Amino acid sequence: MALRNIVTVDTDRTSVLRKKTRIVEKFDERLKELAADMIETMHEANGVGLAAPQVGILRRMFVMNVDPEEGDLVIINPEIIDPEGADVAYEGCLSVPQMYGQVKRPTRLKLKYQDLQGEVQEIEAEGLKARCICHETDHINGIMFTDKIIGELIHESKLIEDEAKRDPKSSEQDLKPDSVEIIEEN
Ligand code: NI
Repeated sequence: MALRNIVTVDTDRTSVLRKKTRIVEKFDERLKELAADMIETMHEANGVGLAAPQVGILRRMFVMNVDPEEGDLVIINPEIIDPEGADVAYEGCLSVPQMYGQVKRPTRLKLKYQDLQGEVQEIEAEGLKARCICHETDHINGIMFTDKIIGELIHESKLIEDEAKRDPKSSEQDLKPDSVEIIEEN
């Protein structure tokens, strides 16, 4: 396993974040290696999700770890089905370091995808997990959360300050980009 470089909007390779991605057709050792690298990179960066274009790979694939009990999930060729409801909350992104903005997302959805063996799976998700799935699926369609923000993009120091005013128990540890939801969740 190896750490991959995360493409950020500050670098000159950001166009990769806007490109079309290809469907994954080969479920081979190389794909498993990429998935393992992406999981390691996501944890190293303290994120809860990471999409393949963020490491420069134009494939329809992402990894996530929203629920520690459930652990790491590798999501290949995702398809969001029956999104329901709407919720506005703060999100961040490993490709947009230290910046956060409010985005409206469905509160629950179903996700059809393929696992690393190529088997079709379907799961239901709500709350932060649904938000993360939408954020990462956007990535593989070349869409950034900054395209969808309501109001301003704010720096994490301001967000932490505002949150501390609202809830003195909160701390910097609550910030987990890609995606983050701190206002409603805590
Ligand atoms: Ni992101």
